[in-house]
Amino acid sequence: MSESSPGTTLKVAIIGTGAIFRNHLEAYRALGNVEIVAVCDVNKELAVRTAQEHCIPRAFGSVAELLSAANDTTDLGRIDVVSVCTPHPTHEAVVTEVAEAGVHVLCEKPLAISLESSQRMVDVCRRNEVKLGVLFQRRFWPAAQRIKALIDDGTIGQPILGHVSVMLHRDPSYYSATPWRGSWDTDGGGVLMTQGIHYIDLLLWLMGDVVEVHGHINTFVHQAHMETEDSATATLRFASGAMATVQASTAVTPGLGVQIRITGTTGASVQLTEFPEGTEGRIDMFGTGTTLETEPTWPADANPNTPLSEINAALVPFHKLQVADFVNAVLTDTEPAVTGEEATKALGVLLAIYESSETGKPVKLSL
Ligand SMILES: NC(=O)c1ccc[n+]([C@@H]2O[C@H](COP(=O)([O-])OP(=O)(O)OC[C@H]3O[C@@H](n4cnc5c(N)ncnc54)[C@H](O)[C@@H]3O)[C@@H](O)[C@H]2O)c1
Repeated sequence: MSESSPGTTLKVAIIGTGAIFRNHLEAYRALGNVEIVAVCDVNKELAVRTAQEHCIPRAFGSVAELLSAANDTTDLGRIDVVSVCTPHPTHEAVVTEVAEAGVHVLCEKPLAISLESSQRMVDVCRRNEVKLGVLFQRRFWPAAQRIKALIDDGTIGQPILGHVSVMLHRDPSYYSATPWRGSWDTDGGGVLMTQGIHYIDLLLWLMGDVVEVHGHINTFVHQAHMETEDSATATLRFASGAMATVQASTAVTPGLGVQIRITGTTGASVQLTEFPEGTEGRIDMFGTGTTLETEPTWPADANPNTPLSEINAALVPFHKLQVADFVNAVLTDTEPAVTGEEATKALGVLLAIYESSETGKPVKLSL
């Protein structure tokens, strides 16, 4: 269905017009070589309203209807790229239909809620020769890119120790107001699946593949509204021999944001802080030898319990960078920055934390 090359204007559809839809809309609209031709949501009324509000030509109530119209040159006609912004347990069905129609897919994280499902999505996209990108927009923070460069140029050396602390606030209404959040069937997990996976992806990107995981999960505060975990801790061992610790929670009031800290073989350490949640992560500590640079990363009047709409709005600049990267990958037939294979690895680590918590034993991961 897609015939894209440099110079082409890509035709895009966005599937799922809920909370994160707007980030994709703004990201595509910031690009000159893209036209948003349709939206699709099982809540057809919402799709129609969204299309009207944002001057998008067509609205569909199912993926099948969207693809059928795209297959008909007298109807919607060709689409090149689809963004999938539906709840994660629905990703596989949507991505499969879209890939089998020959359309490139940029899917929201987490790619899936099981490794088998994630691998099937990678396979179906490969078989149909379409690109699969997964949204981990925090990789596009300049601070994250700088840490990666400091590792690659030897300043930090090979990472030996890592730490991720994801200390977030969620009101109980976050879990009670959205029917799919916080249940094993419809959300696939809690803080690790929805929030923690961004930072597990960053850790893997910076430190390499994980070979062993030992973890614990619990629900301390939100048990009235969720069956999945609101808190988790884990230790990770990497193929390189490096080690890392993870702690994650949505039971924190006020939220303390996120820190990622890496120490390398040169002894140098670098720490990145995202506070308040959703704002751009910045390097607040960077020590090499006898020097330690420190920098305050947030204004004194920052609201630590940021509402979800503000978190999502603050993510837009980085959705823009990742969407631009994906569009470029389609136009130049290159790999997107975050592939389905990499997203599957991050998912594998958090699922291993769940398994380890259940069995009480470390879980080995195959590479
Ligand atoms: N990258 C990020 O930082 C980030 C931030 C927020 C959400 N997300 C991810 O985006 C996804 C959506 O989250 P949200 O908060 O926008 O959810 P949401 O519930 O606000 O919206 C989801 C929409 O998808 C629609 N939908 C459900 N199944 C569908 C299907 N089969 N076909 C078409 N439409 C369907 C629903 O009707 C709803 O309107 C989740 O996977 C979430 O983890 C990512």
